[in-house]
Amino acid sequence: MLDLFADAEPWEEPLAPGAVILRRFALASDSALMAAIADVATHAPFRQMVTPGGYTMSVAMTNCGPLGWTTDQRGYLYSPNDPLTGHRWPPLPVAFTTLCHRAAIAAGYADFQPDACLINRYGVGAKLSLHQDKDEADLRAPIVSVSLGLPAVFQFGGMKRNDPLQRLLLEHGDVVVWGGASRLFYHGIQPLKPGEHPLTGEYRYNLTFRQAAKSE
Ligand code: SIN
Ligand code: FE2
Repeated sequence: MLDLFADAEPWEEPLAPGAVILRRFALASDSALMAAIADVATHAPFRQMVTPGGYTMSVAMTNCGPLGWTTDQRGYLYSPNDPLTGHRWPPLPVAFTTLCHRAAIAAGYADFQPDACLINRYGVGAKLSLHQDKDEADLRAPIVSVSLGLPAVFQFGGMKRNDPLQRLLLEHGDVVVWGGASRLFYHGIQPLKPGEHPLTGEYRYNLTFRQAAKSE
C-alpha cells in the first residue's frame, strides 16, 4: 500500500499549556529504538508489577538509566537497582538520550536531563488508568513520552481526576512532552486494541523519560 505520509516531516500539535504532541518525531529512529529496547530487556526483563494495593498491572514494564520506577508493598519508588535481578538498571541507550534531548528542545524544554526511562509494553487489552506522574523529586522537569508500534488512545485531563479528558490517538513515532503548567495533569491509556505492527508485532511500546532525582 502506498503510504502518502511515510516521508512526511514531523509536525506539532499543541495539547495544553506546557504540553505538545510531536507527531512522528521518533519515526526516523524507530529501528534503533526497538533494538535498544530489546537489548535493555535482555538485562532487565519486562515484568508485570504489583501495585501496593495488590493489583497486577496489565502493562509489562522495565527501566533503564540511573533510576528505575518500581513498586513494592509500601508504594511506588525510584530505585537504582532492579528488584528482579538485584543489579543496576541498564544504562540509557544513546538512541534514547539523543531522541529525548531533541524532543525536549523541540517542545521548549532546553535543558532536560533524564535520569530514568520507564519502558511500558502493552499487549492486547493492557491499559493504564488515569494517574499523575508525581513520584519525581523535581517537578520543574518535563515528561517526554515516546510511542512505538500499535496505536493507543491517550487520555489527557487536568489537575483534578474528574477534569474533562482529551482523547488522542497516539501512533507509531509520536512523542508527547508535558511540563510546566501541565506537568501534573492526569493522563492514561485506554485498553489496547488487537493488531499487528511491522516493527513491534502485537505490542505497543512507550518510553517515558523523567528526571526522578532532585537536581542540584
Ligand atoms: C505513562 O503514563 O507512564 C505512559 C503513557 C503511555 O503509555 O503513552
Ligand atoms: Fe504517566
